[in-house]
Amino acid sequence: MTDARSLSIVRGRVLTPAPYERKLVEWPDALVEVDADGRITAVSEAPADCPVPPTWPGAVIVPGLVDTHLHFPQTRILGSASGPLLPWLETSVFPEEARFDDPDHAAAVAREMCRALIEQGTTLAGIYSTAHPQATEILLTALEDGGLRAVTGLTLMDRNAPPANRLEAVEAMAASDALIERWHGRDGGRIRISMIPRFALSCTPELLREAGRRSREHDLLLQTHISENRDEIAQTLAAFPGHRDYLSVYEDHDCAGPRTLLAHCIHFSDDEWARMQAQDIAVAHCPDSNFFLGSGCMPLRVALDRGLRVGLGTDVGAGRTFSVRRVAAAAYDASLLCQAMVSPEELLWLATRGGAQAMRQDDRLGCIAPGFDADLVAIDVPPLHPSPSRAALIDALVFRHDAGPVRATVVRGRVLRGA
Ligand code: GUN
Ligand code: FE
Repeated sequence: MTDARSLSIVRGRVLTPAPYERKLVEWPDALVEVDADGRITAVSEAPADCPVPPTWPGAVIVPGLVDTHLHFPQTRILGSASGPLLPWLETSVFPEEARFDDPDHAAAVAREMCRALIEQGTTLAGIYSTAHPQATEILLTALEDGGLRAVTGLTLMDRNAPPANRLEAVEAMAASDALIERWHGRDGGRIRISMIPRFALSCTPELLREAGRRSREHDLLLQTHISENRDEIAQTLAAFPGHRDYLSVYEDHDCAGPRTLLAHCIHFSDDEWARMQAQDIAVAHCPDSNFFLGSGCMPLRVALDRGLRVGLGTDVGAGRTFSVRRVAAAAYDASLLCQAMVSPEELLWLATRGGAQAMRQDDRLGCIAPGFDADLVAIDVPPLHPSPSRAALIDALVFRHDAGPVRATVVRGRVLRGA
């Protein structure tokens, strides 16, 4: 990894998620002690005569932001407007993703994406690659060098896409096995491999089953898309005849369980929500993407009331930003449209702790407390009332992006950006 400064103590205004309740706890002037492994050993209130200067004066410190869902090869087509999901995939996505058979292109885009994530305060991301093993190796190397945490792997596709985007199941599984062997758990679990059948439509039943089997056998996250668009749902049920709904396609191919992380979940029936809950399946909520592709509003409150693990996803490049804060703002808008408001406090919790839960890394991530890893982001807050209330502070973090940029991004005590 590139040489980054390590912190042993941080002083500043801290907002930490409570571990299980969707609430944030404030330390107006905290001292956070970090050991040589990047683990938090103590959090305390700074004494009046504290000799440690504030680390990032004026900034608020929260846990690193978690982007539970984005597409590395769509970095350069972010904002490519070609209509709803299926035409957008054909017109904007597949031609660009085909370019990742070129290692130079893959390397340049991987660097750009890592920079963009770090700039926006993301410390952990669930990242779809393409079906190209070499591009995926290049991505993993960039993530390792860049110091980020990531859960990634080949995007599995063996049908319903141009040949340049596909990889046959046997080859894809051999390449996945090699990635697991070489990369899974690298640097104390900072880099992890996941199984990523793109969505049911782009996979044969055999490919889905093999992905599900590897997820179970190696305890890997399984990431995919579901129920994003009505045409997608209709085509999926036509491609998998005899299934009563979209979720049952994944259930019947060994792709549904507590390691599963499903993006979108917009047009679910009550029964599908009940089965999500019963199987402890996690949700990647991608409201900015849902707006851009006109996909609809995911009923976030329904998912939360059922106790599902939910994180936020930028879904770059259907999402138009690498900023999880902006996605939190879009999630607020979407919740009002669904007539079931989710508060900025809950959304900031989802952007940090919720994401860690959805990605099954909540044993070490998502709180600023002893025993957790020091993954931190410092965000400047614009001038507010001289002593802003906690609510005003949270509103500024979620909504005032222009006036309050990310000042520093820290993974396991190492400063990836910021003085
Ligand atoms: N469904 C299948 N592939 C994709 C993708 O790349 N982006 C989005 N938003 N949905 C998908
Ligand atoms: Fe996506």
